[in-house]
Amino acid sequence: MTESQTMGVFGAGWVGLVTGGCFAELGHHVIVRDVVPDRIAALQAGRLPFHEPDLPEVLARNHERIRYTLDAGELVDADALFVCVQTPPTYSGDADLSFVWSALDDLPRGERRQILVMKSTVPVGTGEKVRAALEARGLTNVGYVSNPEFLAEGTAVRDFMNPDRIVIGAADPQDAAFVEALYSGIETPIVQTDVASAEMIKLAANAFLSTRISFINEIANVCELVGADVESVAQGVGLDHRLGPHFFRAGVGWGGSCFGKDVSALKQLAGNSGYHFQLLAAVIEVNELQKRRVIAKLEKHLGKLRGKTIAVLGLAFKPNTDDLRDAPSLVISSRLLAEGAAVRTWDPVADARERLRGATQCDTVLDAVRDADAAVIVTEWDELRGLASEEVRAAMARPLIIDGRNLLDPGAARRAGFAYEGVGRQSSAFETLPETAEPEERVSS
Ligand code: UGA
Repeated sequence: MTESQTMGVFGAGWVGLVTGGCFAELGHHVIVRDVVPDRIAALQAGRLPFHEPDLPEVLARNHERIRYTLDAGELVDADALFVCVQTPPTYSGDADLSFVWSALDDLPRGERRQILVMKSTVPVGTGEKVRAALEARGLTNVGYVSNPEFLAEGTAVRDFMNPDRIVIGAADPQDAAFVEALYSGIETPIVQTDVASAEMIKLAANAFLSTRISFINEIANVCELVGADVESVAQGVGLDHRLGPHFFRAGVGWGGSCFGKDVSALKQLAGNSGYHFQLLAAVIEVNELQKRRVIAKLEKHLGKLRGKTIAVLGLAFKPNTDDLRDAPSLVISSRLLAEGAAVRTWDPVADARERLRGATQCDTVLDAVRDADAAVIVTEWDELRGLASEEVRAAMARPLIIDGRNLLDPGAARRAGFAYEGVGRQSSAFETLPETAEPEERVSS
């Protein structure tokens, strides 16, 4: 049984609230501190500022053990202080640690032993700097542990409660043991290491996941040229136990607030340390080009896109989240607008009206595809599985589906009368080419 501790959490963002809520679920008392008054007021009123499955239930179920505050002084009696603030990229691609330093400035001054636990993703070497900063502030009662998070949006609560591993980097074995004990109740391998290695594990994991996706996307692009099917290829390769099936789905590229930021941060970190990380430069470039291939695929079927109407279906960077950060949909829609197309978007939860001012966001899929010259699946929402229907075909000006997530069965789409183009699969053209189309640019060029 877990020994109940009191923990403070700096940052009521996505990582902070999942961490706080799940530790409360494990029996601990949690005080979440943020600097934004509206956010704290909303949380105190029981409102969550973003969409994350299961989190509202976890926070509600444990509300007696969770408190929200603007006052860092309330964390003075906490046994552990989790830093869960954002570390966005700067213009140079380095991680911006200003929120981490602000949290340090706000650390309560007390006598008792407290362990500062870094959950935020930070460059390797940050732990050393933080320890020096703690010493400079005379906070000798504060220990330091790196404990990176591996939560994915949309499944964060499940990921926290059933992790593949827990990584604990510490200089002092007692501090490491204390943090490990906070997780008791969760059965999983524990990786105990030094602080720098723990920091590197997080960056390397995200960089490798992104690399796998960019790799399968390049395989998909070659499949299109040589007549192979990437879905079969991924299955056949992924069954090799040394390679595994995960993060091997071809598509319009990876997005979200983590991959782009962390891959750049690792590349930048290597560069700052005198090493040119060539592979990551390619991983990033492949991903940028992958989003833009949608435009060439549309042009292949429709000719020039000026004056055409394109439905962009799915805006969130992946399903089960309303997060638009680094979402491929934004790049694709912006490129379409730049080509002079009319863009009609749909998403069940994400709202892109602010970011895509030139586009029209529709409430239903049917509204988005009405009179459209093509429908592009950008996010694999369940609602889109039935897209190749008679109703949709009748509503569209031209029945063309660009399936950016290989969500549909190509044969079924063709039989339903659609021209279909997936990623790394054989495409099919319009049965009778509409008169106004001027196909000219081939995707393969
Ligand atoms: C990612 C990692 O998966 C988490 O382990 C990590 O903790 C988190 O970043 C973080 O650093 O905080 P997340 O960004 O929420 O999680 O989303 P993912 O599920 O990893 O998806 C990222 C992107 O890759 C999405 O755009 C998704 O559509 C794309 N993807 C994923 C593919 O294109 N193909 C795949 O096979 C898998």
